[in-house]
Amino acid sequence: MTKNPDKLSIVIGSDSVGYDFKNQLKVALEADPRIDILIDEGAKPDESIRYANVAERSVQKVLTGEADRALLICGTGLGMAISANKVAGIRAVTAHDIYSVERSVLSNDAQVLCMGARVIGVELAKRLIDRWLDLRFDPESHSAANVDAICSVESHNLARKIR
Ligand code: RB5
Repeated sequence: MTKNPDKLSIVIGSDSVGYDFKNQLKVALEADPRIDILIDEGAKPDESIRYANVAERSVQKVLTGEADRALLICGTGLGMAISANKVAGIRAVTAHDIYSVERSVLSNDAQVLCMGARVIGVELAKRLIDRWLDLRFDPESHSAANVDAICSVESHNLARKIR
């Protein structure tokens, strides 16, 4: 499928704990005109899969460019973020407030937003995601050097691991 460059492609996913919450967000995302392609990599109702593996398969879509961003739901949003951040090239955050959601894109160029179904109400999550969809990282901003530094930390440590 050809991507529309003016719109976002989003991959969503959840573990079994976040399943209903993710599906409620999915309904809103499906109706959002800013989204071109929506991919659901979440746990299926009959699938036995850990949140780490949902995170892994979801962020692969970001790395391949099939998706611009990922939205991952588990009980707390913590396990998904930890797991996603184990994948080289991924910057994932857990955020349940507007300032953190905004800065995750504007300061950190995070491609992955994680939320906890047991932490935040679904209507507030929808409002935060509504804002998230309007945000774009500015590579000319002073934050670019900080993101470069994150990438350098990752490269140094990947190099160290394989020695
Ligand atoms: C349940 O397995 C719970 O640990 C999970 O949904 C998530 O909150 C992990 O961080």
